[in-house]
Amino acid sequence: MRIELVDIHKHFGPVRANDGVSLTLEPGAIHGLLGENGAGKTTLMKCLSGYLSPDRGAILADGQPLSFASPAEALRHGIGMLHQDPLDFPQMRVLDNFLLAFDHRFFPDRRRGKALLQELGTRFQFNLDPDAEVMSLTVGERQQLEMLRLLALGAQVIILDEPTTGISAPQKAQLFATLRRLAEEEGRSIVFVSHKLEEVEELCHRVTVLRHGKVTGEAEAPFQVNRLVEMMFGRSLPPTERVPVTPGPPVLEVEGLVVPSYQLTVEGVNLCVRAGEVVGLAGLEGSGQRLFLRACAGLERTAAGCIRVGGRDLTGAPYRRFLEAGVAYLPAGRLEEGLVGGLTLAEHFALAERRGPFFLNWAAARERAAAHIGRFNIVGRPDTPVEALSGGNQQRAMLALLPSRLNVLLMEHPTRGLDVESSNWVWEQLLARRAEGTAILFISADLDEILERSDRVVVFCGGRMSAPLEACRTTVEQLGYLIAGKDVGCEAGNVRRETEVG
Ligand SMILES: Nc1ncnc2c1ncn2[C@@H]1O[C@H](COP(=O)(O)OP(=O)(O)OP(=O)(O)O)[C@@H](O)[C@H]1O
Ligand SMILES: [Mg+2]
Repeated sequence: MRIELVDIHKHFGPVRANDGVSLTLEPGAIHGLLGENGAGKTTLMKCLSGYLSPDRGAILADGQPLSFASPAEALRHGIGMLHQDPLDFPQMRVLDNFLLAFDHRFFPDRRRGKALLQELGTRFQFNLDPDAEVMSLTVGERQQLEMLRLLALGAQVIILDEPTTGISAPQKAQLFATLRRLAEEEGRSIVFVSHKLEEVEELCHRVTVLRHGKVTGEAEAPFQVNRLVEMMFGRSLPPTERVPVTPGPPVLEVEGLVVPSYQLTVEGVNLCVRAGEVVGLAGLEGSGQRLFLRACAGLERTAAGCIRVGGRDLTGAPYRRFLEAGVAYLPAGRLEEGLVGGLTLAEHFALAERRGPFFLNWAAARERAAAHIGRFNIVGRPDTPVEALSGGNQQRAMLALLPSRLNVLLMEHPTRGLDVESSNWVWEQLLARRAEGTAILFISADLDEILERSDRVVVFCGGRMSAPLEACRTTVEQLGYLIAGKDVGCEAGNVRRETEVG
């Protein structure tokens, strides 16, 4: 099926999210859709998959106009979309989520549904337990479940909106292999929405670049990366530079920490982080880095060991005490944990003001929101509900909500869903905090980001933490080995033991 989008317009109030976009999707091809944050990628794909109806323009399938009033109707025409934030029901089981896809006419019974799920799972090597609760799955597995649901319904056009944020490297490799197979062997069309150039380069046959709601260019593989960057941002980006800092006194000291959980226990972690230091936490998703980071914010129960912040023992203390000690935590789940769905930006700023008077001052909260919207370049207004912001703008909002003076900043995927230029901007903000003496610990799935931004790196594997490595003397390959659980015997000088540091 050959899909044509012709002159699509979609406005949200004054925002021209799509401003006359046309593109063609060929069967059997993987089509990349590139663009910086807020470029209009998600909006365009929501128009194609029935979640939004365009204000103007046409969608043609093999030359015939299509129109649909809902995602279910779009699916009946063979068009399905995997969303930036999973749309499944976490409280339900895998099988129930899978069965939800079928409308009443095709509803298979549980036994047949289970057989179908398992058959598809085997075909694509997605090993999902039908009885597991979706809540217990990783982001990657939830994505696999949604993909199987779309395939079960016979989707011929499969749209993936930034599918690689928050999944592990092996899951990504598996996803890419599946996408190639669906396109090249089965003749389906794949749309891969992203702002990661390397991924588009690796996977896509063609790309269309959007900027401010308009198409700025198209290209065929092999791509010229400089050209793509120019189409995305209007200019080439200079490489980022590292600024050396002299770390201050220890602000976060962790000794013999044990953090139990259902799936994995983090054991024997020792780490001393100094004021102004940036420590990157690498590891496959679910290797313990998140548990450790959350424990450092008082968000996980610890079983042994101690955590000191600025010399004060906070082991076992609740999150509030950590906050008071100048520790802040930025979660990866933007709408699940970081922001409150249904509330506006101004309401978030009112909530974040912890030492305010008993009665909320709404005018002040709106002013504060407006000032931060300007400073953090958020595309939105004080009365915009957070779920109406694009993914990248939600991330900016979370950063804008952080308290101004911090001793320790703990972050999961701080630039998740941000384009290159926005990520650089975020790091400029973070490094300014570091110059004021804030220690930064962050988790990232992007090893280049870890090596480029950190002073030291630790790798988590099966709940254990490696000795800290000097980032400037470590390579991506070395990290890769450690992440995979192989000790590569880094040169002695590279491994600074905690005893020497503390
Ligand atoms: N429901 C909505 N209400 C109001 N504005 C919206 C809505 N959805 C999107 N927008 C705005 O439309 C513009 C395009 O957003 P869109 O989500 O399509 O961008 P995107 O390219 O997917 O960005 P990102 O890479 O950050 O996900 C943004 O300015 C966004 O704030
Ligand atoms: Mg988007």
